Amino acid sequence: MASEPPFVIGISGASGAPIAVRVVAALREAGAPVAVVVSEGGRAVLREEAGLEDGAVLGTGVVAYSDRDLAAPIASGSFPTRGMAIVPCSGTTIAKVALGFGDSLLTRAAQVHLKERRRLVVVPRETPLTSVFLRHLATLSDLGAVVLPATPAYYLHPKSIDDVTEYVAGKVLDHLGVAHHLYRGWKAGVD
Ligand SMILES: Cc1cc2nc3c(=O)[nH]c(=O)nc-3n(C[C@H](O)[C@H](O)[C@H](O)COP(=O)(O)O)c2cc1C
Repeated sequence: MASEPPFVIGISGASGAPIAVRVVAALREAGAPVAVVVSEGGRAVLREEAGLEDGAVLGTGVVAYSDRDLAAPIASGSFPTRGMAIVPCSGTTIAKVALGFGDSLLTRAAQVHLKERRRLVVVPRETPLTSVFLRHLATLSDLGAVVLPATPAYYLHPKSIDDVTEYVAGKVLDHLGVAHHLYRGWKAGVD
């Protein structure tokens, strides 16, 4: 039997690398295959914020591709996937994807998801936002991508940065259509 198509997780150089680590782990916990591509900026932020080399987000069921490998399967629309999230998504990567650049595997895979009308979730992390950034986010939203900023939900009373990380990771899984226990929604379980 053919194996299930993977989710593609792109990790770019915005702050929020621990969210990416949690998303990959949660997809694996859900039994979903994952293809990961980390940009050069993503590698720097993974090291800085999570103390991890990019290999450390791998594990059983996770396939890693080099960002320079434009011949990787996920560079082609003929390769089936279950959707893609770019988490975290830098302003540079937002701009490239919105403008149609596909000069790295991460940006090319994003173009593939847009052109094939597959799920694409982008998780920007920047503040404040310039009009340029905002225009690119609007373009991506118009193209059908889900723009899911890495912002906390204070109404859920997070106790730690880990709670915030799990909340944002859970929102990403919500939009990839994968069940999880990363956060409990507003009044969940309250009669
Ligand atoms: C520690 C660190 C944190 C950064 N945080 C952000 C950020 O939150 N948002 C952003 O857009 N860029 C951020 N940057 C800058 C990007 O990494 C940089 O613009 C890079 O060129 C992005 O390239 P990429 O999108 O190919 O990964 C950060 C860089 C470093 C080293």
